[in-house]
Amino acid sequence: MAKVLYIQTSPRGQRSTSIQVADAFVDAYRAKHPADKMETLNLFTAALPSFDGLTINGKYNIMHGKAFTAGEKKAWDAVVRLIEHFKSFDKYVMAVPMWNFGIPYRLKHYLDLIIQPTYTFNVSDKGYEGLVKNKPVAVIYARGGSYAKGSPTEAYDLQTKYLELALGFIGFTDVRSILVDPTLGGSAEDVEKMVAERKRQAAKLAEAF
Ligand SMILES: Cc1cc2nc3c(=O)[nH]c(=O)nc-3n(C[C@H](O)[C@H](O)[C@H](O)COP(=O)(O)O)c2cc1C
Repeated sequence: MAKVLYIQTSPRGQRSTSIQVADAFVDAYRAKHPADKMETLNLFTAALPSFDGLTINGKYNIMHGKAFTAGEKKAWDAVVRLIEHFKSFDKYVMAVPMWNFGIPYRLKHYLDLIIQPTYTFNVSDKGYEGLVKNKPVAVIYARGGSYAKGSPTEAYDLQTKYLELALGFIGFTDVRSILVDPTLGGSAEDVEKMVAERKRQAAKLAEAF
């Protein structure tokens, strides 16, 4: 029985196209793997710990074997719990809208919490080593515009580039993705058709996940 973490990073609930398409993936996955355990984490409703000065002091003091305060330990422990929660899954599904050419700030916040040395990556004289290994991730990206390879807007796509760099950095090598775009271009009918097609693609992708 595998454990699957479904991370939603849009605050728009059922109006979110990334969530609608990721839901199609999750429904197909559940149908195929009814015994697997699926947990949904919406980063706009989850209480994420702050990554502030207190937490950073706690991190460095504890990691470097220095004296730390009870407040620093409490703050850093909350981050470690979040990382351990993230790492406790076998597979990941992510629904990610493009915001200002990048990712929504709550996803950046989450990544800043979980990307930590000795927990999700190591540094040695051989370079960086990601520690989240042998786990597949499916990412459903929604974007208002189009950023196709070879097009004049390709360079603006920092959403897929940044997220896939971050995932690769912590060890993911099996990243399967679906682009849901343009959600704001064309007629309502064109968008509806495109979303329906992406739902079919997502369901197909889920069958071999
Ligand atoms: C704050 C914000 C910023 C956005 N920035 C961009 C952008 O830079 N480029 C783009 O193509 N679409 C942009 N959009 C449009 C969204 O990417 C698009 O509506 C997408 O479908 C949202 O995903 P969702 O429906 O899952 O929330 C933005 C939307 C919001 C709310």
